[in-house]
Amino acid sequence: MKKLLVTGGAGFIGANFVYHMLDTRPDVRLVCVDSLTYAGNMSTLARAMADSRFTFYRQDIRDRAGIDAIFDREKPDAVVNFAAESHVDRSIEDPALFLQTNVLGVQVMMDACRSHGNIRFHQVSTDEVYGDLPLDRPDMLFTESTPLHASSPYSASKAGADLLALAYHRTYALPVTVSRCSNNYGPYQFPEKLIPLMIANCLADKPLPVYGKGLNVRDWLYVEDHCKAIELILEKGRIGEVYNVGGHNEMRNIDIVKLICGELHKPESLITYVTDRKGHDLRYAIDPTKIRDELGWVPETAFADGIKSTVRWYLDNRPWWEEIVSGEYRDYYERMYANR
Ligand code: NAD
Ligand code: DAU
Repeated sequence: MKKLLVTGGAGFIGANFVYHMLDTRPDVRLVCVDSLTYAGNMSTLARAMADSRFTFYRQDIRDRAGIDAIFDREKPDAVVNFAAESHVDRSIEDPALFLQTNVLGVQVMMDACRSHGNIRFHQVSTDEVYGDLPLDRPDMLFTESTPLHASSPYSASKAGADLLALAYHRTYALPVTVSRCSNNYGPYQFPEKLIPLMIANCLADKPLPVYGKGLNVRDWLYVEDHCKAIELILEKGRIGEVYNVGGHNEMRNIDIVKLICGELHKPESLITYVTDRKGHDLRYAIDPTKIRDELGWVPETAFADGIKSTVRWYLDNRPWWEEIVSGEYRDYYERMYANR
């Protein structure tokens, strides 16, 4: 049986990946490493914890000795690195942690892969490493050869990790792949991000804080489709390559927020325009031709269906996010949105 070490498995995409693999791949065992920052939740992993094919370690990826001990003990066949500080607004407040986890943590993980038999390593990256595209050029898309041009401390840290991963492949022949995905949505996303934040605020009849004029465009992909892309890259991806992942689903923020109001039968008068994010990227749009032609990946969930089931999930799982919005997040929300 293959053993996969997954970092960041208590977060949004990592947990969805854990469940995707446990539910569809009886031939795989999973070892999850997560330090449980504000974004990591054991309640998310409750069903996985009851599965004998799943093992959990509370462990920081920046801690070399701790990571080496887990590799010595578990001897994984491959590593997928989801662990990261992932929120752009928090990176604007405090860049240092982003550099430590998102760059130096990745170095620790790849060094462990090297010293334990040149283990296969997949880095989960983001389309944000390419910077942004103009709003008035719908013909322009990010391809894998678009130059890196990061805008925020978050995206700069992810770009640094991508370069480091590709350098470890070239210099040490570490078997590395990198995927750069567009915005994900779906179950278990932390309520600081646009879609769950708007759902939670709608349900509480609180203002819906739209940055600037709400005209910025994101390219939304259902999280399960991202998980399937990573599985395919792990199995069939060419070593040393980067794969863009996205489903040609560009939407303006304001349209997403209005759609959520509609789904929840809440008035659009809740929408409040607030001061824009510093350095706010205008538009992201992925060209997924390479992963489609080489690996046969295509997105399976239409946005109209995915957003309905996501709203339903937040309605059906109120205890999950209500617990979160009452903790550290409350202080963060106050800092980020009061007087904005
Ligand atoms: P998330 O913030 O929901 O989860 C991150 C997880 O990493 C949490 O469980 C947290 O506890 C863990 N973590 C953070 N620092 C750690 C450390 N030092 N050691 C061990 N664990 C640590 O993030 P997400 O949205 O699930 O994103 C996962 C990955 O996918 C990230 O690398 C992100 O850059 C990338 N990505 C996200 C999106 C998106 O739309 N959310 C899109 C493309 C790529
Ligand atoms: O593109 C992939 C990236 O998508 C990932 O790498 C990041 O980890 C992930 O957080 C996400 O980044 P964004 O900055 O695009 O996501 P966020 O949900 O923070 O914001 C989406 C858009 O909505 C963005 O244009 C800012 C806007 N926004 C966001 C929040 C939280 C608002 O207008 N109001 C808000 O309150």
